[in-house]
Amino acid sequence: MRLTEQVHQYIEKVLQSGDIAIDATTGNGHDTLFLAQCIGRMGEIFTFDVQQQALRSAQSHLQKHHIQTPITWINTGHEHMLEYIPLALHGKVKAITFNLGYLPNANKNITTCSDTTLPALNASISLLKDGGVLSILAYTGHDGGREECEAVKTWANNLPNNFNINITIPQNTKFSPPEWIYIQKKHTTPLK
Ligand SMILES: C[S@@+](CC[C@H](N)C(=O)[O-])C[C@H]1O[C@@H](n2cnc3c(N)ncnc32)[C@H](O)[C@@H]1O
Repeated sequence: MRLTEQVHQYIEKVLQSGDIAIDATTGNGHDTLFLAQCIGRMGEIFTFDVQQQALRSAQSHLQKHHIQTPITWINTGHEHMLEYIPLALHGKVKAITFNLGYLPNANKNITTCSDTTLPALNASISLLKDGGVLSILAYTGHDGGREECEAVKTWANNLPNNFNINITIPQNTKFSPPEWIYIQKKHTTPLK
């Protein structure tokens, strides 16, 4: 199974109809579509990308699938996330996805980088509700990708103990596969 499918399988278990989700790196909209299918028209999505071209591509992808989930498309860097998510929703977000790197078949110089990714991850942590998840797929094969991935893992390993952290590093592969950092905010009160 591809790592991206594995990521979706995990997030799917957490999301329910009506949840709030953020796609921090919209790209062509594959994760946005997945999130929308999980939370349905009662849910809400906020989606970020620095490239208008990416948002347009994602919008057309979702239109083809007749998605009815309310989506706010935000053409700015995810490091500004806290300014764009309504205050009333801080602490209420169930899933946030980051798929780092560059937009496939576009300008490879427009890529995520740790200077902006780490502030965005700190913002994400403050937006999550108890039980909510933060998923980061970090590609390592492009310029700066390995450094960004290592910075994300160091950041994750220094999170306070109210977060569970799981890092998956695919083995036995010739290519530079993405690494997956999966973080879940623990429930403060035990589930019944
Ligand atoms: C690997 S692609 C994302 C793929 C996407 N999740 C999908 O399903 O198609 C990474 C995206 O991050 C975007 N990006 C780069 N820097 C960013 C930033 N600071 N904030 C938000 N998006 C950014 C790029 O423009 C690119 O579209």
